[in-house]
Amino acid sequence: MSEPTQPGGSADPSAAVVPHPLDSDAVSRTVDNALADIAAAADLGELKGARIAHTGEKSPLSLANRGIGALAKDEKAAAGKNIGPARSRINQALAARTTELEAERDARILVEEAVDVTAAPRRRRAGARHPLSILQERVSDIFVGMGWEIAEGPEVESEWFNFDALNFKPDHPAREMQDTFFVEPPEAHLLMRTHTSPVQVRAMLERDLPLYVLCPGKVFRTDELDATHTPVFHQFEGLAIDRNLSMADLRGTLEHFARLMFGDDAGIRLRPNYFPFTEPSAELDIWHPGAKGGPQWIEWGGCGMVHPNVLRAAGIDPEQYSGFAFGMGIERTLMFRNEVGDMRDMIEGDVRFSEHFGMEI
Ligand code: PHE
Repeated sequence: MSEPTQPGGSADPSAAVVPHPLDSDAVSRTVDNALADIAAAADLGELKGARIAHTGEKSPLSLANRGIGALAKDEKAAAGKNIGPARSRINQALAARTTELEAERDARILVEEAVDVTAAPRRRRAGARHPLSILQERVSDIFVGMGWEIAEGPEVESEWFNFDALNFKPDHPAREMQDTFFVEPPEAHLLMRTHTSPVQVRAMLERDLPLYVLCPGKVFRTDELDATHTPVFHQFEGLAIDRNLSMADLRGTLEHFARLMFGDDAGIRLRPNYFPFTEPSAELDIWHPGAKGGPQWIEWGGCGMVHPNVLRAAGIDPEQYSGFAFGMGIERTLMFRNEVGDMRDMIEGDVRFSEHFGMEI
């Protein structure tokens, strides 16, 4: 705010001419002077100077007013009628100009201190959820929607859960060092689980029947990293154990799941295959209507009816209960569902890859 200034020479009280209280022309000139200064005040600071000059103790009209006391008794009333209205005109002009200048100041502050709420703020770049996580959640949601539960198991698994309980014979090639990461020391019989199927056995041992569980999670194999392989990847495993479950239940479940994942035109196909822990076993193909190269069959995962030996290993009587199981790779699903050409993009951790997928896929 600027210093109060004294507008015009006439505003200087020491230089101002004090009118005689009875000289109405002189009083008028004093008033005109004051009104001119008040009108000329460009801001509240200048107006304060004008107020002091024209209404302060040493202003011409204050001094003239004081002079009334020295007048003869019969002159006092006339002098009062001369000076009083003159002072109130000045006070009214001051009040009006104050209102004007305050409004101007408020308007100016509104402009000067305005905040542009549309301006782009400088902010830290938001991250993005990894598409593998989003897809894993989507799959889980679909099964939770059907009343299934989510089950988990350890990534460092005992050889018994990963192989023996799943009916792998001691000489099965999958047990070889070149496929499996074993954890030292060998006598602990620990390994990095090679699939999510050991969670089948854990779920059967831990939970009551009937049993409907989905187990998503990390698995490990001694593969070299390239466009279609990675030593650490994700699977989801489904397991249902109930009375009278048949291959038709497996088919129906997978077909429903496939349609929710790939659209109403999707379909499934089962081809005979072999897994030690299912009998019969099948390779699951998906009819992918939106595939990049046009609608086609794509190999998706494995499935089958839970082998009686596996039920027995988990203490379930195969005469009373039957079950089906299936397992798919999440990376592989993301590749052909969302057209990711190179698996390495999924594991490099570049946020630009994740951002491309948005919040929902
Ligand atoms: N565990 C098998 C694999 O990793 C897939 C599978 C799961 C097959 C369940 C049948 C039943 O290839």
